[in-house]
Amino acid sequence: MRENRLVVFGLLCSLTVGVLTVGMLTVGMLTVGVARAGAEQSFVARASNGLAQTPPMGWNSWNKYRCNVSEQLIRSQADALVASGMRDAGYRYVVIDDCWQVARDSAGNIVADPDRFPSGIAALADYVHAKGLLFGIYSDAGTLTCQKRPGSRGHEYQDAARYASWGVDYLKYDWCHAESLEARAAYETMSDALRASGRPIVFSICEWGTHQPWLWAASVGGNLWRTTPDITDGWVGKARNIDWFGVLDILDLQVGLENYAGPGHWNDPDMLEVGNGGMTLDQYRAHFSLWALLAAPLMAGNDLSTMNESIRQILTNRDVIAVNQDPLGIEGRRAFKDGDAEIWVKPLTGGSQAVVLLNRGDAPRPLRLTWETLRLPPYLRVDSVDLWTGKRIHGATGSLGFELAPTAAVMLRVTPTR
Ligand code: GAL
Repeated sequence: MRENRLVVFGLLCSLTVGVLTVGMLTVGMLTVGVARAGAEQSFVARASNGLAQTPPMGWNSWNKYRCNVSEQLIRSQADALVASGMRDAGYRYVVIDDCWQVARDSAGNIVADPDRFPSGIAALADYVHAKGLLFGIYSDAGTLTCQKRPGSRGHEYQDAARYASWGVDYLKYDWCHAESLEARAAYETMSDALRASGRPIVFSICEWGTHQPWLWAASVGGNLWRTTPDITDGWVGKARNIDWFGVLDILDLQVGLENYAGPGHWNDPDMLEVGNGGMTLDQYRAHFSLWALLAAPLMAGNDLSTMNESIRQILTNRDVIAVNQDPLGIEGRRAFKDGDAEIWVKPLTGGSQAVVLLNRGDAPRPLRLTWETLRLPPYLRVDSVDLWTGKRIHGATGSLGFELAPTAAVMLRVTPTR
């Protein structure tokens, strides 16, 4: 922990706090003390917990099941994660989202729903671990969770110790009923509590991007942080004045955030909707391609026990997953935009690049990938492989042309020839 301190006194509005925080990250995680309304608050950057060196992969109950969670459900999804080949493709964390908890006992300990989890959470964690998987749980920085179950406010250390005793490996920590709290400090408290528990626990910060967590979440020890409101199982909402965030709306909110991500600390554009029924296969392939290219956590959110083969093939495409899990850990960026046509690029280990050519619109359209977009000289010979069809093109120079289907993407891995 570094000891350099920058102390700023005076009444500072939250905008000013944000600017100071940028400055802090730029100069390398100095300690920043900020005086607000006369009282000094001191922020000390936490050392990395060493977890999530590549984006976490797994399954979470929320997108499909909402509050309808139970130990049978979690067990059957863990079983399916293994049987479907997803565990072996890299999916490891099985996470119960909101609604597993119902009360606190007289000692203040959090109590799991005895009807839905009669064997208890520790037994469920054991079951998940015995399958070679890791186990995650959910709480909230406020007094209540978003579904009005008990939150962790005032019980952070007690909850973290309990999670550790149960064998929890991952905590998603939400932001409902937390209006009166200072976001960074609230997440810092739970981060410290998790560390004090003595068990390595991935810390997933879920405050929807409200307080620009990309500026501070890594320095409080967050391994991932949501950058947006909740995703909906649809292609586009907000951008067409519909009141929900589909894949394209969430995608647009990632532009410019790419430099904040890296090994151990990731932007989280929310969990996958692949297989939940609201989009076409082309749209789900595009969703998965883009999330892989964004180095996003890949948390499946569908019913793994009944998914069809097309959905299984999307979720287990090893070439696409390899892009997501590339050890360099660079988040892809939008490198080209012309109306509904976009090209997103992610540098990979060894000089290759992953490319997603996206057609947002409802009509088919041609799209040309030029070497300029790849920041390569036009004379360079480049090999390309389509990660969905396997089609290879050897030694192209200058550019490659594609015909894109409506609301669909092509994903490539391109490599200069040696
Ligand atoms: C939201 C969160 C969702 C889900 C839900 C549970 O705040 O963004 O991903 O966790 O709460 O109530």
